[in-house]
Amino acid sequence: MKKLALAVVVLVLSVAVGLFVAGKPRQQAWTSGWASDQALTFPKDFYFGTATAAQQIESQSPSDWTAFELDVIANKRTEHGSAPGVAKPGHIAALDQFSQAVRTRKTDYDQRYAEDFQAAREVLGNNAYRFSFEWSRLFPRADMTRPDPAAIAFYQGVLDSLKAQGLTPFATLFHFSSPAWLWTEQDGQRGWERADAQQQWQRYVDAVLEHFGGQIQHWTTLNEPMVFLNAGYLDGVFPPLETRADPAATGPALAAMARAHAYAYHAIKQHAQAQATSSGQPVQETWVGITQHTRAFEPWRNWHPLERFAARQIDEIFIWDLLDALESGELTLTGTGFSEQIEGLASTQDYVGINYYGRFYVEVDMANPAKPIIHSHDPATDQWVNDLGWALYPKGFGDVLQTAYERYNKPIYVLENGTADQADNDVRRQYLLVTHLAEMAHAMQQGVPLKGYFHWSLTDNFEWAEGFTARFGLFALDYANDFKRTARPSASLYGRIAREGLQPALLQSLNDLQPPRQP
Ligand code: BGC
Repeated sequence: MKKLALAVVVLVLSVAVGLFVAGKPRQQAWTSGWASDQALTFPKDFYFGTATAAQQIESQSPSDWTAFELDVIANKRTEHGSAPGVAKPGHIAALDQFSQAVRTRKTDYDQRYAEDFQAAREVLGNNAYRFSFEWSRLFPRADMTRPDPAAIAFYQGVLDSLKAQGLTPFATLFHFSSPAWLWTEQDGQRGWERADAQQQWQRYVDAVLEHFGGQIQHWTTLNEPMVFLNAGYLDGVFPPLETRADPAATGPALAAMARAHAYAYHAIKQHAQAQATSSGQPVQETWVGITQHTRAFEPWRNWHPLERFAARQIDEIFIWDLLDALESGELTLTGTGFSEQIEGLASTQDYVGINYYGRFYVEVDMANPAKPIIHSHDPATDQWVNDLGWALYPKGFGDVLQTAYERYNKPIYVLENGTADQADNDVRRQYLLVTHLAEMAHAMQQGVPLKGYFHWSLTDNFEWAEGFTARFGLFALDYANDFKRTARPSASLYGRIAREGLQPALLQSLNDLQPPRQP
């Protein structure tokens, strides 16, 4: 009996040690070790820009998100979640506190994009801009075989205006919103899982390429598919507001999105080829990929083997599994049993797209180990925390960039990085800009092939389930005063970095920045 008990103890201990060693420990360092007495610079052809998405800035089109927003107002579901940054399922925080004009016009971008682009060049020193096409603006009705001419004219206006300001367009095809009609149930399926979803997507992609293909070289087919799935199919805070049992149950929707990516990848390449053939010009170079939401996932309690293990697993499934699939063609979701071979998916990323938003901690509750609890900061260690409770963490950014390079050996674009800081003196955004751009420049010195940085975002905007309450803009928006834009201090700071790089005086000025007291 004693021998058996000893064997059990040894077994449990070795499993624990195994998990502990295989897991992800908490990082102790705060930065990747760049020195503040030497300049950190960027090459001349580096892209500096901001990133935006149609549903968050454009006038409402008939998308699934617009349907959700209207329903939220009609049924008064405008409560906040239990804490900042925790959305309440089926709600959009405080949406009723903003006028109908704001709810429909969002940032009034439709009227002011030219002025916004001018500010991006003049104040931010930018040479690029990331935006998304709104599928439901181009195809507001299911029966349309040609896109809406007014929508084509609108996006042509955007592209012309970008060109006039010398801003290189970086276009996204799917940034969370899609036509409301796609979500009508057909044979028991909605959205991406409908039998006709691929055919509808192809019509949309073909239309975008026909009208704009020759004007755009940088493409992101899908923005953060894992955020879309987690928020929309597991947490019920984004349309389609579902709460499926586990990540494996989101596999079919993800596989459909991977198929959509594969189609768009090849369609973009074929379009460039066909244009060259018909014009007799060389084939226009194109860069196509997706972008993933990344965080530094770390254990809530560093000594806890299961939390270390869970942090590693979440890191794999949330960030890397899909990027791996774009290389291999096989979509396998770590720890879920879901795996599918996707035709045409292999070798469909020309660059790795990284969006980075700070540090998350993973807690395992032994009563429900399959559902880890995510903490967005640790009050014991994190001083730099944004308005949504997210911990800023520069070193995690450097690590993600390094890992992306080691795994894929491809050029990397940072297609989003920013923070919610509504203060007039946005010290946390300033701190983020300097430290995160320093992480990038440092990574480049180590050989990581970074090609561009896009700050999220140009102006305050509609922040999904947080409504208009979370402020991510380099320019503040006064929603009560005709959408007036005011540069926050970080706007000119970004301009200074884009023009001069990070000079020692600027790096040293970090010491003067103090995090505001947390409420
Ligand atoms: C999304 C943006 C969003 C931002 C800040 C990213 O997950 O791509 O649409 O506004 O993060 O939450």
